[in-house]
Amino acid sequence: MKVTVVGQGYVGLPLAIASSEAGFTVFGLDNNDEKIAVLKSGKSIIEDISSEVIKKGVNSTLYTPTTDQSKISDSDLILICVPTPLSSKHKPDLSALISATTTVGKNLKAEALVIVESTIEPGTCRNILLPILLKESGLKLGDFELAYSPERIDPTNKKWDISNTPKLVAGLTASAANRAKEFYAKFIESITICSSLEIAETAKLLENSFRLVNISFINELAIFCQKIDIDISEVISAAATKPYGFMPFYPSVGVGGHCIPVDPIYLANAAKAVGAPSRFIELADQINQEMPGYFVGRAEEKLGGLKAKKVLVVGVSYKPNVADVRESPVEALINGLKQKGAQVSWHDDLVKEWKGEKSVTLSSDFDLAIVATPHDYLDLKKLGEVPILNTRGSI
Ligand SMILES: NC(=O)c1ccc[n+]([C@@H]2O[C@H](COP(=O)([O-])OP(=O)(O)OC[C@H]3O[C@@H](n4cnc5c(N)ncnc54)[C@H](O)[C@@H]3O)[C@@H](O)[C@H]2O)c1
Repeated sequence: MKVTVVGQGYVGLPLAIASSEAGFTVFGLDNNDEKIAVLKSGKSIIEDISSEVIKKGVNSTLYTPTTDQSKISDSDLILICVPTPLSSKHKPDLSALISATTTVGKNLKAEALVIVESTIEPGTCRNILLPILLKESGLKLGDFELAYSPERIDPTNKKWDISNTPKLVAGLTASAANRAKEFYAKFIESITICSSLEIAETAKLLENSFRLVNISFINELAIFCQKIDIDISEVISAAATKPYGFMPFYPSVGVGGHCIPVDPIYLANAAKAVGAPSRFIELADQINQEMPGYFVGRAEEKLGGLKAKKVLVVGVSYKPNVADVRESPVEALINGLKQKGAQVSWHDDLVKEWKGEKSVTLSSDFDLAIVATPHDYLDLKKLGEVPILNTRGSI
């Protein structure tokens, strides 16, 4: 069976590799020429997949990175894994997904199965993507099949990977769901079929909204703990001794990445469209966006003002041990510090270069260091006597 995975990023690349390792002939299609050239040369572009694995896939000819859209017409199965970010107005931006679906439609052959993995609002597959596929392909309903299967990948997670993380699938028809399940079962241990596309679409939004709401809540609690001078980490550890009904979440400068700050806005948007409330999400989003400003205030307090103070921000990616800076709350932190007159530098050996600036080395040449993203490799001893503001705790 031939498979095309549209989008070779954090979701599409591991999926393309896993399915090629399961024996499928896989085309990794992306519209980013540079990315495809790097992959063709046998180099990886994400932390979780080594260059050896890419090389092995390319050499075996089971994995072919390509920009050639005609590979779709040669494929029995097409998986769509393109970004679904927010627009500059903080609203769902489906432009990449619509463009990718249009490309798939134009090249779709009869009897193919299309599986969408991008995170979307309930109804998107049925009401937006299906009509595009029908119009662009000229095929009739029933000539091809459509399924949805949200991705749950957690970059750098050593315990839960693509094969042991349970997967949800749903189909426009029962046969589409069964075909999708059969495909994933070749390399994923546990697969659950949902009764409709909308159930699977909403389940993904629930998972990530649950995280945003709880992380924002713990961030609010961390502010309280700081005010009464107790350690939030100890409070969380104490509460986590309860064996049921509690799940720990940890404080930070805010959530980032392509999922947690973004997907709940898709849910809130969908709720608004039908007149249902989404107050938890709106409040959590607001608290999340206020966190960088809170730490700017803490830094100001610590130094008695920030004007001309040399501040080092340590770690700028959205979470430890990744180089991904999408939606990183550290950008707002740096901007906030600069607005108060601080001379801000940042250190992050994983990111190296960001927004036209380069990572500086860790040294004692600063008035304050703010640990925003604590990568494992960091050796904070190199800061010498520089006072540290830790965004992952309350003291
Ligand atoms: N990153 C995660 O941890 C994660 C986890 C679960 C779900 N998701 C969801 O998966 C989807 C993809 O996210 P990602 O993190 O892999 O994004 P990404 O930016 O890492 O990768 C997407 C790739 O798609 C390519 N692309 C964009 N438009 C295209 C088009 N029209 N044709 C061909 N290629 C195109 C881009 O060049 C890019 O390489 C999103 O909906 C996201 O919400 C992401």
